[in-house]
Amino acid sequence: MTPIDIIILAAGLGTRMKSSLPKALHRLAGRPMLGYVLDAAAAAGARRCVLVTGHGAAEVEAYAQDWARADGQNHAQPELLAVRQQPQLGTGHAAQQAAPLLPDDGIMLILNGDVPLVQPETLARLIALCEGAHLALLTVDTGQDAGAYGRIVRAAAAGADAPVRAIAEARDAAPAELAITEWYSGIMAAPTRLLKKYLALLTNNNAQREFYLTDVVRHAALDSAQVRALRIADVAQVAGVNSPAQLAELERQVQRRHALRLMEDGVRLADPARFDLRGDLRCGQDVEIDIGCVFEGNVSLADGVRVGAHCVIAHARIEAGAVIHPFTHIDGGEQGVAVGPGARVGPYARLRPGAQLGADVHIGNFVEVKNSTLAPGAKANHLAYLGDAEVGARVNYGAGSITANYDGANKHRTVIEADVHVGSNCVLVAPLTVGAGGTVAAGSTLTQSAPPGALTVARARQKSYPGWRRPSKQD
Ligand code: UD1
Ligand code: MG
Repeated sequence: MTPIDIIILAAGLGTRMKSSLPKALHRLAGRPMLGYVLDAAAAAGARRCVLVTGHGAAEVEAYAQDWARADGQNHAQPELLAVRQQPQLGTGHAAQQAAPLLPDDGIMLILNGDVPLVQPETLARLIALCEGAHLALLTVDTGQDAGAYGRIVRAAAAGADAPVRAIAEARDAAPAELAITEWYSGIMAAPTRLLKKYLALLTNNNAQREFYLTDVVRHAALDSAQVRALRIADVAQVAGVNSPAQLAELERQVQRRHALRLMEDGVRLADPARFDLRGDLRCGQDVEIDIGCVFEGNVSLADGVRVGAHCVIAHARIEAGAVIHPFTHIDGGEQGVAVGPGARVGPYARLRPGAQLGADVHIGNFVEVKNSTLAPGAKANHLAYLGDAEVGARVNYGAGSITANYDGANKHRTVIEADVHVGSNCVLVAPLTVGAGGTVAAGSTLTQSAPPGALTVARARQKSYPGWRRPSKQD
C-alpha cells in the first residue's frame, strides 16, 4: 500500500475570527479544533504528519505536543513534525513549506486546521479515489450559495460529474462561477510527486495577492492529469470555521450529535437543542437531564440520576438515584467530585474539587463543599461552607455555619464525628474535632475541640436589662 503523508494547514491568522487566539485552537465542544484534525490524521494511518504553523506558532505547536502525549495515545501515531510559515502568503505557500518534508513515494493528504469534523471513512474514500495517480478533491454541493468557499469549476456542458477544471476562489470568481453551488472543503489527496510539481507553479496573481493552494487544480487540468471530486452530502464534515458565527453553527451540530447519541442510549434529554457536552459523559439507565445543562471533562451519571435545569457538572461521578437540583455547579477539577447514591444536591449548591458525598447526603441551597468527605446521611441544607472537613454519618450542619479552615497561611482540617448537630451560624476554627453525638449551640465560635455527647456553647451569655429606655431626641 502507498504510504500516506499529511499536511495540516494551521498557520493562518484567522482574520475573520477577530481573536488573538490562533484559529486552530478555538474550541469546538470544549476541545481545540486542531485536536479533531490531528485525530483524523492519525486515523488515516499516516506515516508522517507535517503541521504548518505561523500565527501563534508556539501555542499551536505546544498543543500538538500535548495531543501527541495525551489524546493521540489512542491511535497509532504518525511522526509529527512542525514547519513554520513566515510570513503567511497563502494556503499554497503554506503547502510549499511542508512539501519538502514529505517523501516522493507517498500520497499527500492535505487537511485544514479549520475544517475539524471530517470523518476517517471519508478520508479513506478520498485517498482511494486518487488511486495513486490523480488529484482528488473533497467537495459538497448544498444547492445554495457557496459563500466564501472556493467554487468547483467543471468542464462545460458535461453535467455535474464532468472533469474538474479549476477551483475559483470566491473573491476572484466571475459571476457565472460565483453561481456554482458545489464548493471545495479545503481537503485534497494526490500523489506527492505530482502535487510537488504543481505547487512549484503557483503564483500570487489574484485578488488577495496570495499563493492559493487551490490553483494546483488548474495546473493539474492543464497538465491533463485527472482531477476527481468526492462529493459528499454531509456538510458538517466539510464545514470550515472562519468566523465566530461558523464556529457556533458547527458547535450546535456537534452538540446535536452528542444529544442524539445519548438519547439513542436511553438518556432523557428535556431538549436536545439545549444540551452541551464538552468532554465525555457516561450515563446509566433512566437518566434525566433538564434543559440548559453543561457537562465538562469526565462525568458519569449512574442509573436513575436526575439533573435539574441549568446545572454545570465537570469531572464528577454521580451515583445511582442521586438528584442534582437546578442551578448547581459541580467542578471536581483534578481531584474529582463524587456524589453518593440517593444524595440530593442543590438547588444553587456548589461542589468543588475533592467533595465526596456519601449515600443519601443532602446539600442544599448556597452550600459550598470543598475537599471534604460527608458520610452517609449527613446534611448541610442552607448557606454553609465545608472546607477540608470530615463529616460523620447523619451529621446535621446548621444554616450559615462555616469551617474556618485557613489561617492565612495554612489549611487545617475539621472533624465532625457521627451524629453531631451543629446549630446555625457556627464557626469551627480548624483544626478541631467535634466528638460523636455532640451538639454545638447556634452562634458558637469554636476554637478548640468539643467532647462527644456534650452540648458545647461558645458565645456570650444572653442578658436582658429590664425597663431599658432608648435615648430620645433633645429639643
Ligand atoms: C480555503 C480555500 C477555499 C476552500 C476553503 C474551505 C484557498 C485559497 N481557499 O479558503 O477554496 O473552500 O478553504 O474551508 O485555499 N493557512 C496557512 N497559511 C496561510 C493561509 C492559510 O496555513 O498563509 C491555513 C489556515 O490557517 C487555515 C487554512 O490554511 O487552516 C485555510 O485558510 P483560510 O484562510 O481559512 O482559507 P479559506 O478562505 O477558508
Ligand atoms: Mg478557512
